[in-house]
Amino acid sequence: MGNKHYYIMTFGCQMNEHDSEIMAGMLERMGYSETEKRAEADIIIINTCSIRENADKRFFGSLGQLKRLRMSSRDLIVAVCGCMMQQQHIIDAIKTKYGWVDLVFGTHNIHMLPEMINRVVNERQKLIDVWDEHRGVVEGLPSKRKYDFKAFVNITYGCNNFCTYCIVPYTRGRERSRRPEDILREISGLAESGVKEVTLLGQNVNSYGIADGFDVDFADLIYAVNEIDGIERIRFMTSHPKDLSDKLIMAYRDCEKLAKHIHLPVQAGSSRILKRMNRRYTREDYLLLIEKLRNATGGNIAVTTDIIVGFPGESEEDFQETLSLLETVKYDSAFTFLYSVRKGTPAAEYEDQISEEIKHERFNRMREILDSGMAENNKAYEGRIEKVLVEGSSKKNSRTLTGRTESMKIVNFYGNREMIGKIVDVRITEGKTYSLVGEVL
Ligand code: 5AD
Ligand code: SF4
Repeated sequence: MGNKHYYIMTFGCQMNEHDSEIMAGMLERMGYSETEKRAEADIIIINTCSIRENADKRFFGSLGQLKRLRMSSRDLIVAVCGCMMQQQHIIDAIKTKYGWVDLVFGTHNIHMLPEMINRVVNERQKLIDVWDEHRGVVEGLPSKRKYDFKAFVNITYGCNNFCTYCIVPYTRGRERSRRPEDILREISGLAESGVKEVTLLGQNVNSYGIADGFDVDFADLIYAVNEIDGIERIRFMTSHPKDLSDKLIMAYRDCEKLAKHIHLPVQAGSSRILKRMNRRYTREDYLLLIEKLRNATGGNIAVTTDIIVGFPGESEEDFQETLSLLETVKYDSAFTFLYSVRKGTPAAEYEDQISEEIKHERFNRMREILDSGMAENNKAYEGRIEKVLVEGSSKKNSRTLTGRTESMKIVNFYGNREMIGKIVDVRITEGKTYSLVGEVL
């Protein structure tokens, strides 16, 4: 088995990135090693995302490209997994149009990968095994991390929020949390192996432990991680405004390792649209949270967000409220999306869908405001000294290093490769719209 190779293609969010790291860990335990060449692989896995329609399209495009490779090799295994596989119409499409795919599994049985591969290899049969719901949290899975110095750690799985546009509660199932002792043990182990930065992952980390009745909440978890020797930075993704507690806001003041950055998806600036999205907060609630976060940190916190334009029924006035919220908050960065109809979600059935033309036109207006806010924020960094975790070097010039500030901003500067994985002081010399330029001290 020694010379077998795997190739994993990952679409979507950090949750998927981390699932792929776990699959890579399991494959390595089975004796496979990674290859960057598809043609050299014995198993190719596509880990899919279904958050928006273009993700579906890209998946089928990538899958189509593998047909010839699969047909020319009797031994190659093509496997597909992830969120798209939790939808029956996708499974049906694979069965009818891509019958040559060897293995199909979902988001709830990733841990079964070794057994599933063995079955496909030994029985030379196709296997479709998708579970409708999770069957508990599985601990102790290996993981092959992309970086030595930073790591993702799952703290919750699934989502109970049912925002009306979103497919995730259907593809990832009900929310459940990992036990605090398992999380802390994993992070201590990571710290011992040299990891400096951990990102705690969940669809809504703020409701950590609630559905499971734990007596430890998300803020308690941050305080506990803050005590782990060797960990220098703590981040988390994603945080739902409706569950952001005052206790967590205080953690920004008390926990020196908690990076002064929050990703707090607002989705829309109009309370009417927020209600239709089932977000369960108003524009005013959201702005109050931003004010509290800024007060607790003396204004020293970067705020990033997700925004959807063209949600069904969004009027020009509603959209103007989104624009005015952007001007008020002045985000440090934002992921911006055109609303995309997701089959099976309530909003897909709403009759007042917005035309593509209006969506695009609003999107462009919104980007202009966001970009000018970002440029202004980044200009204010000029002259400041920032602690930067050095992540790598540029492909073109190995002397150009790239890293991230505590506030998550990308900084490019000259240095030597030995700095990769370390936190260094960098003076910012230029603030551009999407990144900073600096010089190491
Ligand atoms: N259309 C557009 N954007 C969406 N998102 C989730 N579902 C949709 C959809 N149907 C966005 C939200 C979420 C991010 C991960 O993706 O902004 O926060
Ligand atoms: Fe989707 Fe809303 Fe859950 Fe986020 S909180 S995953 S947007 S349903």
